[in-house]
Amino acid sequence: RQVLVLNGPNLGRLGSREPDVYGAQTFDDLAALCRESGRELGLSVEVRQTDDEAELVSWIHEAADSRTPVVLNPAAFTHYSYALRDAIAQRTAPLVEVHISNPNAREEFRHTSVVAAVATGTIAGFGMRSYELALRAIADMGE
Ligand code: DQA
Repeated sequence: RQVLVLNGPNLGRLGSREPDVYGAQTFDDLAALCRESGRELGLSVEVRQTDDEAELVSWIHEAADSRTPVVLNPAAFTHYSYALRDAIAQRTAPLVEVHISNPNAREEFRHTSVVAAVATGTIAGFGMRSYELALRAIADMGE
């Protein structure tokens, strides 16, 4: 069973980006961790990252058309992209919103997620483990 793990802007810079907030592991480490967790759960995981809103929206359309479950870290788009929200509203399989940090414990502008209400659920604040927990949730839903 295939799962897409999609990542929004600046997440390609994990490792060097604000390591006090996001940790020292790189994006490649994250991708490897997701693929390994997927293997253990019987999921075939493809990991992607983009800084471009249009590209991220097109990947969500692709997932909707192919009924592929998604783990999505929308990064800063979380807080203001109605285009991303409207794309997610078309989903035909589970979509789990994930965050490495706990946005609710940070600046005020991070307390709003415009995508949360159209996601299946949200996992935030567990570092890269958030992705592993999201993959487990998708595996358990078994759809
Ligand atoms: C983030 C939290 C967002 O507020 C931020 O814009 C990010 C990363 C996280 O994973 O903790 O880029 O989504």
